[in-house]
Amino acid sequence: MKNAEPKAIYLKDYQAPAFEIESTYLNFDLYDDYTLVTSILKMRRTTGLDAENLFLNGQDLELRSVSINDEVISGEYYELTDESLSIAASVVPSEFTLSIQTKIKPQENTALEGLYKSSGMFCTQCEAEGFRRITYFLDRPDVMSVYEVRITADKKAYPVLLSNGNLIDAQDLEGGRHSTTWQDPHKKPCYLFALVAGDLKHIEDTFTTMSGENVTLRIFVEPQNIDKCDFAMGALKRSMKWDEEVYGREYDLNIFNIVAVDAFNMGAMENKSLNIFNSSCVLANPKTATDATFQRIESIVAHEYFHNWSGNRVTCRDWFQLSLKEGFTVFRDSEYSADIGSRTVKRIEDVSLLRTAQFAEDAGPMSHPILPASFIEISNFYTLTIYEKGAEVVRMIHNILGAQDFRKGSDLYFARHDGQAVTTEHFVKAMEDASGKDLTQFRNWYHQAGTPEIFITDHYDESAKSYALTIKQTCRETPETKEKKPYHIPFELGLLNDKGDDYPLICKNSKVNSETGVVNVTKFEETFVFENIDTKPVPSLLRGFSAPVRVRYAYEAEQLQFLMANDSDGFNRWDAGQTLATNVILSLSQDVLAGRELVLDEGLFNVYQSLLSTLMSDLAMQAQMLSLPSLAYLIEQQDQAQVHALYTARSFVKQTLADRLHDSFSNVYQQCLDSREYEPSPDAIAKRTLKNLCLQYMTQTHNHDYSGIAQQQFDQANNMTDQFSALGALVNSHHQSLAQTALQRFYEQWQHDVLVVNMWLSLQASSDHIEGVAAVNELLNHDAFDIKNPNKVRAVVSVFAAQNLRHFHGADGSGYNWLADRIIELDALNPQIASRLTGPLTKWKRIAPPNGPLMMQALEKIAARSNLSKDVYEVVTKSLVS
Ligand code: TRP
Ligand code: ZN
Repeated sequence: MKNAEPKAIYLKDYQAPAFEIESTYLNFDLYDDYTLVTSILKMRRTTGLDAENLFLNGQDLELRSVSINDEVISGEYYELTDESLSIAASVVPSEFTLSIQTKIKPQENTALEGLYKSSGMFCTQCEAEGFRRITYFLDRPDVMSVYEVRITADKKAYPVLLSNGNLIDAQDLEGGRHSTTWQDPHKKPCYLFALVAGDLKHIEDTFTTMSGENVTLRIFVEPQNIDKCDFAMGALKRSMKWDEEVYGREYDLNIFNIVAVDAFNMGAMENKSLNIFNSSCVLANPKTATDATFQRIESIVAHEYFHNWSGNRVTCRDWFQLSLKEGFTVFRDSEYSADIGSRTVKRIEDVSLLRTAQFAEDAGPMSHPILPASFIEISNFYTLTIYEKGAEVVRMIHNILGAQDFRKGSDLYFARHDGQAVTTEHFVKAMEDASGKDLTQFRNWYHQAGTPEIFITDHYDESAKSYALTIKQTCRETPETKEKKPYHIPFELGLLNDKGDDYPLICKNSKVNSETGVVNVTKFEETFVFENIDTKPVPSLLRGFSAPVRVRYAYEAEQLQFLMANDSDGFNRWDAGQTLATNVILSLSQDVLAGRELVLDEGLFNVYQSLLSTLMSDLAMQAQMLSLPSLAYLIEQQDQAQVHALYTARSFVKQTLADRLHDSFSNVYQQCLDSREYEPSPDAIAKRTLKNLCLQYMTQTHNHDYSGIAQQQFDQANNMTDQFSALGALVNSHHQSLAQTALQRFYEQWQHDVLVVNMWLSLQASSDHIEGVAAVNELLNHDAFDIKNPNKVRAVVSVFAAQNLRHFHGADGSGYNWLADRIIELDALNPQIASRLTGPLTKWKRIAPPNGPLMMQALEKIAARSNLSKDVYEVVTKSLVS
């Protein structure tokens, strides 16, 4: 970047706003080639001091006029920059009405922040700092105001005009135009403002709250999608009920709207009473959406709804506090999903994401605490750390306090801070005050980045019948902290006797809770001695993944098999199997590098054979147990990852299991066939998941031809899950000519459906058989691709770089260079998306040469460009620091 270097802003520099905005009136005049925005703000100085200028944020705006108390302010009294409007203190009284008119061009807005157009409709995205692209304003979350919004537009093109709160007026106007006016009685920060104008259809339902209020629920979509709204509506009603039952939180308006838009940078946005969703996170019916999509919709609808309390009623003081709302809300949606589906499987899914992607982020150059101390561009901090690790930290508080005291704590937090903009400290304090528990040391989780490593050694004393566990913790140096303080780690464990039952935990140490099996680890090194242990136990460590840490303990293969068969903790039964398979694959990868012959470990073979011998009572668990650790997870296990050796080793294991056990896979497949009508219920999903996993192994083998079965499932499926799984099985198999025909037919069948076409694109981008970047470029050149649509960019570019690790890490580095070019191309259009695409390259230090250095060169190519966005600049420069 050759021009002025973007600067970091610091939490320690936080200052309360010098002005407050009591009420905000906004008038939007929407036209096809521009929009006029008029704001009328009732404002007041907060400090009593007259000395401060009125500083307002603003970006990409054309200022038409500014006046105070109806007096036009002339240019000599204000200063305009690319990012602000500053009005001289001398013309700003202590209480006043500020009125500003700006002109903006939504149709040219490809960054998708502020007001923009998506397939012909107007919509907004203001979090985190998009509102400043609409008008000059105090664009910070601690400035809260009530809003009244009037929208005017052509009635034929934009029959539906929506904003936050209640509709208080609607009028037909001259020239075919019309207007609506909305009033939101709840104070809110401007990042929760929203506006939508379009030609939309909706479905409608109602919900009666626990105190008897009726709420009208609507989901607005483009007309062709009206048959894809029912599931999200059901999810919304289930979430509303759950939040009443589990948190005592009631909805606070008589209207709740959801709108689906195609061009959206993230999943969805919790704007007050007007949630805006990426269409991929809300639209579904059995014919077009897979089970995974149904589950994603269930949790995202819940997530955005839950924000109404954790985020909207109680919001963030500043963006450093982002995890206050996101970590807590992810914890809430995760518990919701666990309650309505399989708790253990939900835990496995969450932990898998954390241990592959979040741990990798935390081991890389963008590592940051869940309460960061500084940032250059806040959009870069909507990370797995803020969201998923943030949720794990809330989960630990939940587990330390217990469900009852946690509920007392959340009640106190909501009661104390309703209507306020607060910090993570307020949250922790409420939890402490309500429970009487001291969380002083626990707070280190908020300030220190990095994943703690826990080293465990043990000693069994035969004569004393005692068992000693020594637990050491360390955490590597991260950008913000050199010398780490020890974490308070709630470490749940069990000790299994030789029958596989848990010993009662008898330990003189007051830090052990014998009821829950939680050991409170608080020092760098501690030894816990358990008594009345008759024979050497098998330890089941970190049950339920009770803390976001890496555990190092030298398990024997037999111990892992014993845990798989006997552990009372479902998560650890699964995890034992994963560790077993991981050890086998890591060791095979050494054989690959040494050029030795590869031989499958018989222990792992036996485990798979026995897992396939019958249908288990929990089929979802069975499918999880039969899944090998992902390549991304394996890469995460090595400091200098040998991607190709890992890929080869993993493929060998998969291939050998498929070759030797294809009969058994086929047997389980047959037992899971189900001719009933499609339902996205947990049981039905579990059955399909297991069936389709078997189909993957079946199409892998050369010892028998199962392609006919895949073909038949593809042709005859009555739902997308089965059709798409069959297609995926073929695409990733050696039946390549069948795969090509099926891909072609699938496209012909679904080309009218944008979301299905995106799945089709991403299946090809992730295919084992795609031949490098030339083939990915063919996808980019396909009619169905559009670089301005983030879902399409994700489907092709992100999927190739983040999921097709074998080909992305091709030996010649062409994948990296190709990605650098895509990032540069996108940065000019949509910096948020460009910056996210950079993620895979930032991990260069942990990829073994020659690949790691080639990745670094791709980053340098980006860094050499002038006019990079703040977003890409921050990620690239931080990644290149040695
Ligand atoms: N608050 C949103 C959520 O529920 C995140 C979000 C949606 C977002 N759109 C965004 C963040 C655009 C930054 C930019 O998680
Ligand atoms: Zn959120």
